[in-house]
Amino acid sequence: MLAKIEELLHEVESMTAANAEELEALRIKYLSKKGAVNALMADFRNVPAEQKKEVGMKLNQLKNLAQERIAALKEAFDNQDTDTEGLDLTRTAYPIGLGTRHPLSIVKNEIIDIFGRMGFTIAEGPEVEDDMHVFTMLNFAADHPARDMQDTFFVESNAEDVTKNIILRTHTSSVQARTMEKTQPPIRVICPGRVYRNEAISYRAHCFFHQIEGLYVDKNVSFTDLKQVLLQFAQEMFGPQTKIRLRPSYFPFTEPSAEMDISCHICGGEGCPFCKHTGWVEILGCGMVDPAVLDACGIDSKIYSGYAFGLGVERITNLKYKVKDLRMFSENDTRFLKEFESAY
Ligand code: PHE
Repeated sequence: MLAKIEELLHEVESMTAANAEELEALRIKYLSKKGAVNALMADFRNVPAEQKKEVGMKLNQLKNLAQERIAALKEAFDNQDTDTEGLDLTRTAYPIGLGTRHPLSIVKNEIIDIFGRMGFTIAEGPEVEDDMHVFTMLNFAADHPARDMQDTFFVESNAEDVTKNIILRTHTSSVQARTMEKTQPPIRVICPGRVYRNEAISYRAHCFFHQIEGLYVDKNVSFTDLKQVLLQFAQEMFGPQTKIRLRPSYFPFTEPSAEMDISCHICGGEGCPFCKHTGWVEILGCGMVDPAVLDACGIDSKIYSGYAFGLGVERITNLKYKVKDLRMFSENDTRFLKEFESAY
C-alpha cells in the first residue's frame, strides 16, 4: 500500500491539464467519491496496526497534495484569458484624457498677453523675501499696520530690527523693488506670482492668492499714461464697451494712489446684485511711484518718474467666470477644473 501511495504522490506532483475538462478528469480520478484517494482510505482498515501511523500520514499527504495541485491548476485557468479570437490588435488605444489648464493660469496668461502687447516684460522674484524688498524699500514705516502679524507670515522675525525679518511676500511689489534695484530706467515690467497673507480662509479670502503687478519708470511718465494703459487693459479683458473709474486711495509706495473700478460687465453699468447696484466693480490698485521709493531703489527721482499697479488674478477670474468661492481654485476638484476645458 505504501508503494502505491508513493506512486500516486509522484503522479499528482507532476500532473498537468491542458484545459478545464482535463482538470475535471483529474479531480474525478483522484478526489471524487470513487477516486484513488478514497479507494485507499477504504483499504486503510486492512493495514496492519504497526503500519497504520506511517500509512495514515502518507495518505493524508497524498490527499492534501492532490487538493492543492488541482486548486492551483484551476486558478491558473481562471486567470488565463483564453478567448483570443475576439482580440483586435489593430484597434487604437483608449483615448488619453488630456489635462486642462487651471482657470487662474488661463486668466494669468491672458493678462500677461495683454500687457505683453503693450511692451511689458515679465519679472520674477522669490516668494520667501526679506522685509527690505516687501516693505522697507517700498516706503512702509517701521510701524505700518501691514507689517502686523495679522497680514504677514513670518519665516524669521527679528524683534529689535524689523527690517531684518524674513517673510512670505504679501505682494509682488517686492519684485518691482528688486527690478528697480538692479536696472536703470526705462523699466517696463509686470510681476506675476503667488503672494501670502495671514487671513482666515473663507469664500472671499485665502491665505495665498496670485497677483500681477506692473511697473513703468522712465522720463516724463505721467498719470495719464497710467490711465490709458489701464483703460486699454480693461477693454481687452472685459470688452470694448468697458468704462473705468479711478477713486483716490492710499498705498505707502504710490503718490497719488487710486483704486480702479470697471463698469459692471454683467449689467453694463445699470446696477445689479453683482455690483451691489452701483454699476461698478473694483479691480485693482495703482498710482504714481512715490519718489522716496525710486530713491530707495537707486533711481534718481529728479530725473525719472513712474507708475505702478497691482491686481489679483483670482479677482479678475471671479469677475470673468463668476466663480463665487475662492476656495475652488485650490481644491483640485476636477468637476470644477473641467469646466475650463475649452477656455484657452
Ligand atoms: N501692492 C498693492 C497690493 O498688494 C497693489 C498695488 C500695486 C497698488 C502697485 C498700487 C501700486 O495691494
